[in-house]
Amino acid sequence: MISEKISNLINEQFHKELYSANLYLAMCSYFLDQDLDGFAHFFRLQADEEMLHAMKQFDYLHEVDGKISMGAIEAPENNFSGILPAFEEALAHERIVTRSINNIMKEALLEGDFATQAFFQWFVQEQVEEESSMRSIIAKLKLAGDNKSSIYLLNEELGKRQPAPEA
Ligand code: FEO
Repeated sequence: MISEKISNLINEQFHKELYSANLYLAMCSYFLDQDLDGFAHFFRLQADEEMLHAMKQFDYLHEVDGKISMGAIEAPENNFSGILPAFEEALAHERIVTRSINNIMKEALLEGDFATQAFFQWFVQEQVEEESSMRSIIAKLKLAGDNKSSIYLLNEELGKRQPAPEA
């Protein structure tokens, strides 16, 4: 059994993951429009991962006798001012998600809800990896600047991203 407070927090987190999937599909679409298929592929897989995160939380909440209540998902921005700004927005978004997951961990700790802590430990590590991956791409984009060859190579590199094993 899970407390109403933790159940509500996980329900909110589930909606944040769905919003993340929407945001990354918007970025995928933005890059497809510019024929930057590698960047688009990266965000397509990122959106798939966010759906996986959402569904993990959906299943967990039912397992512990909580309930998902479906609500509206805010529409993301659909236009971005360039490659670097899109990745900077993705990193800023991931930092918000990290704070939200840390808050769930903190509340679960206060309540002695060890099952929720154990479940969200995977997400804590996932956030470390997601922030690190975005920061690394941002660093490469800054190095590339306006150099078209470097952007082309980065587009090729991101086009080779493989789906997460769980996806
Ligand atoms: Fe599900 Fe990118 O956090």
